Amino acid sequence: MGKVALVTGGTRGIGEAISIKLKANGYNVAANYAGNDEAANKFAAQTGISVFKWSVADYNDCAAGVKEVEAELGPVEILVNNAGITRDSIFHKMTPEKWNAVINTNLTGVFNMTHQVWNGMRDRNFGRVINISSINGVKGQMGQTNYSAAKAGDIGFTKALAQEGAFKGITVNAITPGYIATEMVMAVDEKIRESIIKQIPVGRLGEPEEIAACVAFLASDDAGFITGSTLSANGGQYMQ
Ligand code: CAA
Repeated sequence: MGKVALVTGGTRGIGEAISIKLKANGYNVAANYAGNDEAANKFAAQTGISVFKWSVADYNDCAAGVKEVEAELGPVEILVNNAGITRDSIFHKMTPEKWNAVINTNLTGVFNMTHQVWNGMRDRNFGRVINISSINGVKGQMGQTNYSAAKAGDIGFTKALAQEGAFKGITVNAITPGYIATEMVMAVDEKIRESIIKQIPVGRLGEPEEIAACVAFLASDDAGFITGSTLSANGGQYMQ
């Protein structure tokens, strides 16, 4: 049996592509999701991947959820922190609710999840933590002070934790996807989306599978010397 990989938000969007790619590469995959039962059940039926429902925004639910995954599949060796939401609003209209929802899921969720698997990875002297940040955590995006702050936080978290994990055989890396053809991006007003596509030198949105390929590489044994890095995959829209 392959290594156990847990993908948060793993039944839809970029996460779905990541779960499918890791399974194809021989991993024993668990896909977490928070709310959409219909999509999760369809995903499970189509892929044969086990799905587990809890919110990454709740620490205790993460503890219980990871326990359940480990009882079914074994210790989590690869954690992909992919779960993320948007609550876009221009700052002068940003509510505390929108701020907190995005910070709690996109940033605190990464702490909540990683904390559940970290000691096991340390004990086994192996682990891969892969955090899905965003282009907008690096360049900033009007209408996304909450999202940009959380995604920038994910990168700081990655760099700090990478230093702690390095001597224990654990790598911690971030990926910063650009605009990818998922429901999240399709929810942006069409005119705004068209103007965004004009800013992408390759002339198109990315595909979820293109981010999944980055994850597969960072999860692999070939990537053992890469830690604390931020891998951009944005069609040239923003070059760090
Ligand atoms: N600069 C400054 N202020 C602006 C502005 C601009 N370019 N455009 C609009 N505003 C102001 C308006 O004047 C208005 O101000 P008042 O309240 O004083 O009248 C206010 O902003 C609201 O403007 P609108 O009513 O026109 O806009 P809205 O509230 O319907 O939408 C928005 C605002 C939510 C920010 C919208 O522009 C938007 O969705 N922008 C795109 C954000 C984006 O790129 N999100 C990415 C989602 S995908 C993702 O996040 C995945 C990933 O990782 C890449």
